This record gives sequence, structure tokens and C-alpha cells, in this order.
Amino acid sequence: MGDVLILGIESSCDETAAAIVKNGREVLSNVIFSQVPTHTIYGGVVPEIASRQHIEKINPVVDEAVKQAGVSDTDLTAVGVTYGPGLVGPLLVGVSFAKGYSFAKKLPLVGVNHIEGHICSNLIEYKNLNPPFLCLVVSGGHTHLVIMEDHGIYKILGRTMDDAAGESYDKVARAIGLGYPGGPKIDEAAKKGDPKAIDFPRAKIAGNEYSFSFSGLKSAVLNYLNSCTMSGKEINRNDVAASFQAAVVDVLVESVRLALKNTGIKKFALAGGVASNSALRTAMGEMCKKTGVDFFVPPPVLCTDNGAMIASAAYFKFIEGRTAGLDLNAVPNLKLGQTEVFS
Ligand code: KG4
Ligand code: ZN
Repeated sequence: MGDVLILGIESSCDETAAAIVKNGREVLSNVIFSQVPTHTIYGGVVPEIASRQHIEKINPVVDEAVKQAGVSDTDLTAVGVTYGPGLVGPLLVGVSFAKGYSFAKKLPLVGVNHIEGHICSNLIEYKNLNPPFLCLVVSGGHTHLVIMEDHGIYKILGRTMDDAAGESYDKVARAIGLGYPGGPKIDEAAKKGDPKAIDFPRAKIAGNEYSFSFSGLKSAVLNYLNSCTMSGKEINRNDVAASFQAAVVDVLVESVRLALKNTGIKKFALAGGVASNSALRTAMGEMCKKTGVDFFVPPPVLCTDNGAMIASAAYFKFIEGRTAGLDLNAVPNLKLGQTEVFS
């Protein structure tokens, strides 16, 4: 087979993104239109507004991706698109566009699971990384600890029982008045605060050492803020951010450490929007170094939602012949490793 050029399209939440990736690992272009300024005034993503912006932006974003890659649409081998999990309206825009594009240009279509895309961002950054490896996907919607056994074959060790890690960052940031999106703002504020200032809880789930829970931590932060207000105690936002972040990082690192120890796996990859968190990257890197495990983490631009990770995941499905028909539909609650729901 000659070079495989895949157009990857991502629109599951608040980024309209498209990229061209060669042979699954080489990014020729990666165009991301972020809707953050639009949603900031509402303090979070408004699904209907997100859908409308995706409709406005998807054509120019795809055109720009093809242009920046220095290729023509006739050079493309296939189109990959996120079909779940995510917000149904935003997903439908990407899926409908990709179906139209593939039909018009006579290109095969590949449906991609968004979480699988996040994991594959590591394969772009590390050209020699291949499964099996352990991966922690931490994003605004997901917190999954999984073993990628092979392409398309995942063993989920644990997941969050309530809020996702990124969701807890966003909620705590709102509570302390840092605004949306909270992750990067808490990351910055925490650098100026004391992580030991407040002793927030590190939740453990009885029965599954790899499962997570973040809603109790969020409540603990809210209770702390309320008690300060009632007793007239001044709130140091940087200390709250640093102490909250330390609790999240501790819990994530401890679960990964245990999973590595119990499985004997020697390769660990971090993925998802929260993987761009500086404290988490450092702590995971240190733990891996101490335990003799190879640590992989993509650059921040490949951690948050992008089209390159979707094109990469699509490549590995495409070469195995796992393409989709024009009956591909958005599946908002799509599970990782779920049997294809299209023909
Ligand atoms: O992967 P992503 O772009 O979208 C989803 O699939 O959800 O992740 C977005 C999430 C948001 O919750 C955002 O606050 C968080 O990633 N995030 C961060 C950082 N950058 C983004 N969280 C902590 N520290 C960061 N530097
Ligand atoms: Zn994502």
C-alpha cells in the first residue's frame, strides 16, 4: 500500500477541528477552531450554540486543513470522523459533513471513537509506540484507565463513578471565580498556591481500586468555600486551586501506580485534555521514573480535542478494513471497544 492520507474530523464538543495525517503518525496539518470565547459568557458549553458554530466553521476548517497540508483533496485516501461519545448535535454536524464529503469525493469513511482518538494522540507523538500499553484518558467528559491491548481492543480497568476529572476542574474553577474553561486556569493559579494549605479528601472506591470519584472532592471544595464565607475567613484562591489539584493528581497517580504494579505493564501513556495539566504530567513522569516504566504524553495541542488524533485512530481502523457505510450515525454514549454499530 502507498502512503495513506487521512482527513480527520472532530466536532464532539466545543472544538471544530480537521487535520491531515500521513500513515497514522505524521501530522501534515492540524486546524482547530475553538469555541471557547463563545461559551465563556455562559460558564460552560451550550450544546445548541456549539452545533450552530460547528455548522458555520466545518467547511472553512476542513478547507484550511487540506490547504495547510499542501495536498489536494484528490490525494486523500479516506475520511475519519468522531461519531461518539459526545454531544449529539455537535457530533451530527461532523458525521453529516464527513458522509457528504466521502460520498462527493468517493472516499472511504471511517467512524472513530473519540476516546480511542485521545489514546492515539500518543502514537503520533511517539513513532515507535505500539500496543500493548496502559493509558489514562482524562478529559472533560471521561476518566478511563485502560489497557490498549491492540488496535481496537481495550480492557477497561476503571472509570469515574461520577464527574470526569476535567469536569471537576471546570466546576471548581467556576466556584472560585476563575471562569471557563477551568482546567488551564486552575493549572496556572495552582502554581502560585500551596498544595498543602487545605487537606481535601482523596476518594477511594470500595471494591475497585482503579475506579475514580470526583464529586465528593468538588463538594469538599464548595463546603470549604462556604465555611470561609460564613466565618468571614479570607479565601486564597491560589491555595484552593493548588490543594484541589494536589488531591486530583494524587488519586490519579496512585491508581496508575497500582495498575502498573499489578499488571506488570512497563509502558504508560497519558491522554485527554487534562493530560495537558503541568502538575499531572510532572507527577506521572516522576512516578514512572521511580518504578522503571516508560512514560508517554503528547504535547498539549494533541491532548485537547483535535482532528489529528481522529485521523490517526482512523488510519489503524482503515488498514484493517474497518470502514463505515453511509448509515454511520452519531452515538452520544458510545463505549470504548464497543462493537461497530454501523455496517
Ligand atoms: O479532551 P478535551 O479537550 O475534551 C473532552 O473530550 O472532554 O478536554 C477538555 C477538558 C476540560 O475539562 C478542561 O478544563 C481540561 O480538559 N483541561 C485541563 C487543562 N487543559 C484542559 N485540565 C487541567 N489542566 C489543564 N492545563
Ligand atoms: Zn476530548
